[in-house]
Amino acid sequence: MKDQRAIFLCGFMGAGKSSLGKALAKALGWPLLDTDQLLEERFGPIPQIFAQQGEGAFRQMEAQLARELAGKQGAVIATGGGFVLSEAVQEALEGCRLVYLAVPFETCYERIRGSNRPLVQRNSPQQLAALYEQRDAVYRRVCSILARNQGPLEESVAQLLKQVKA
Ligand code: S3P
Repeated sequence: MKDQRAIFLCGFMGAGKSSLGKALAKALGWPLLDTDQLLEERFGPIPQIFAQQGEGAFRQMEAQLARELAGKQGAVIATGGGFVLSEAVQEALEGCRLVYLAVPFETCYERIRGSNRPLVQRNSPQQLAALYEQRDAVYRRVCSILARNQGPLEESVAQLLKQVKA
């Protein structure tokens, strides 16, 4: 692929950013990075960061990481669901290749219900649905590629590969 800029996968919790990211990275022969995992390696478990330092601190950690990853080449980067929502991150990632993995709320919710993600623990299904609606608009505005991830994984990967190569 001519364009070697890293591919940032964005979207709501449960959209399948990590699983699609893994398959996409394999198809491209690129490494997969995961912002949640990188932050957990540096700062400890995310639920603990939220509980002890608050969501604001977590968002600042994400912004710092975004500045570090912005120039990355030849990697697939799965981001946390809130990663591209802040202005600081959007500024840092200007000119980067951002893909929105658009998956209906119901599908996301089935995957995340019962998980220990702080936002899932704190919010009712109705609140999460409202959050999804709010965020969907932002992901659409910020990301230049709109991808789907609903049928078989191989098809989603093949489709996304076409999109990123186009
Ligand atoms: C968050 C999503 C999580 C993680 C954190 C906050 C969010 O990542 O970064 O719990 O604000 O949507 P996943 O999208 O990988 O679950």
